[in-house]
This record gives sequence, C-alpha cells and structure tokens, in this order.
Amino acid sequence: MAAIGAPAHNHYRSNQPSDHADNGFYGQDILSVRQFSREKLSYIFGVAGEMETLVRRFGSADLLSGKVLANLFYEPSTRTASSFMAAMVRLGGRVIPINEVHYSSVSKGESLPDTIRTLECYTDIIVLRHPEMGAAQIAADYARKPIINAGDGVGEHPTQALLDLYTITRELGKLDGLKVAMVGDLKYGRTVHSLTRLLSLYSTDFYFVSPDILRLPADMVAEVRARGHRAIEVEDVHEVIGEADVLYVTRVQKERFNDLAVYESVKNHYVVDPELMTAAKEKMVVMHPLPRVGEISYGVDRDPREAYFRQMENGMFIRMALLAAVLGKA
Ligand code: NCD
Repeated sequence: MAAIGAPAHNHYRSNQPSDHADNGFYGQDILSVRQFSREKLSYIFGVAGEMETLVRRFGSADLLSGKVLANLFYEPSTRTASSFMAAMVRLGGRVIPINEVHYSSVSKGESLPDTIRTLECYTDIIVLRHPEMGAAQIAADYARKPIINAGDGVGEHPTQALLDLYTITRELGKLDGLKVAMVGDLKYGRTVHSLTRLLSLYSTDFYFVSPDILRLPADMVAEVRARGHRAIEVEDVHEVIGEADVLYVTRVQKERFNDLAVYESVKNHYVVDPELMTAAKEKMVVMHPLPRVGEISYGVDRDPREAYFRQMENGMFIRMALLAAVLGKA
C-alpha cells in the first residue's frame, strides 16, 4: 500500500511476472491527459480500432475474463458509466457498479480513501467519477490498484478526451493542421480542458467561443499559446463557424454554478441549428460530449457532419482499449 499522500504508480510492476507486452500502460493510473504522448495516443487508437473489429465480428471476447472492475460514480453519468461497463463485459470481465453512492457507506460518511481501499480488496481496477477536482489523484495516492479518472469536478475527463480525439482522427483522417472551435462552457467544462491539452500535442489552431463569464481559464489559454498555438477567444460563434474543421459544443454545467440566476442568464447562449450549419464548411464535424440540453437542435442530427453519436460509440472502443492496456492484455 502506498504511504498516505505518496503516489502509488507502477502498481503491479514490482511483483508480477512480465508475461505481457510492455505498452507503457500496464498497472498505471489514468488520471490526466498529461500522461499521454503522441506515441501513446496512436497506440491506444490502434488497439481501439482492433476492439471495434472485435465487437463488430464477435460481439465479445474473453481477454479480461476473471477480472473485476469497480465503477464508482459520485456524480450522474449515462455514457461514461455504461460504456465502461459495456467495455469490461465485452472483454469478458465483470463489474461492480456503484452509481448511487447514497446507497453505499458514503452516505454514512465514509471517506473517499476508505471507500477506495475497500473496493480495491474486491476488484482489479477502479473507475472513479467525483465532484471534486483532484479526487482521482487522491484515490490513486491511497490505492494499490489502478484508478481511472472518469471526471473529477471541473478538472479533467481524460477518457472522454481520448474518445474525442479518436473521433476527430476517424472522421477527418488527421489531427495536425486542424482549426478547432470549442463552444459553450469553457470555464467549467472538464472535457474541454482535457481535449484542449491533448490537441495541443498537434498543430491545432484554437477558437475558444464562450460568453465572457464562461471563458477558458486564463492559465489554460496561456499554456496553449506558450506551446505556439494560435488561440482566439470570441463570443459570437458566427465569427468562426466558416473556419472550423471541428465544432466542439458543450453544455453549460449547471451543477457548477453557485448562483442559478447566473446560469439562467447564459444557459441558452448558443444553439447550433441547421441555419448556422449553412455557414460551416462542407467537410467538418460537429461534436458534443453529451448530454445536450438545447445547444444542438435535433435538426442537426440529420446533417452528415454530425459526429456526436459516432463519438459516443467510439467511447466504448477506447475504454475497451484502455482497460485491456492497463490490465496488461493489449
Ligand atoms: C461530460 C461530463 O461528465 O463532463 N459528459 C460525459 O462524460 N460524456 C459532459 C457534460 O456532462 O456536460
């Protein structure tokens, strides 16, 4: 067990036989996109492609049979929770789902470290979503088993960013030289934070489109510019729609506002509809991590540039690849 406060990386390396290919992921936590290089990304994307083939041909495999995953969600989730479950089950593993922490000992006041130390007794890997930034790191500090961050408050959502980037390369055939417009709640949207960091590994031009009070945190804008990227902040999506190769639309994160009146004032700021799409390039994609609550009208669902449904399907393939890699079977 790691000392309190000490990171517990390389969980398995010292005490397990190395009968697996060393892919750089075995036994590792997945806490932040900062852990990924272009090489690691292309490795995971390659495995995700194999997972897609596997699912289309056979539906499932027994790669992770005998392995157990704990899916520990302190915040609501549809796609992330169920795609991790589906990913594990399709690889022959099993899942302990704890989606409703009110029914667990968390409601009795149990701390995150104790809950993590309990679940790791029964499982091989823990997927954690938590409302506080840094919670996944804290869990990893205490755990001997790998932790996968499925969203830590306004911090990061690394597996979402992986599936977002995978979708971009699948849809547009490249990652370098793209103009990416992030639209909506750039302040609280953790998927934006993670995807921006990943895209800054490629030669991306960024348009950050938001109401003034929901701008991307200034240190992130500075970080992107320091890496040599063009980063333009605007409020009006019409100014950038004709340029964007990727329009990445996000929900205003109601649950992060202290004052709901402020949320009400910005919630309907952007609506991507068929009329706006007439100004977009012929070859581009509209993405959204989902759920949408009005930012993209249903009329756009029939547009061939819609990629948000394929994006969520890709999530399962990416999570299959990650689980197989971290558990030493990729
Ligand atoms: C996102 C999240 O939880 O950050 N959802 C998801 O995982 N697909 C985006 C959101 O909730 O708006």
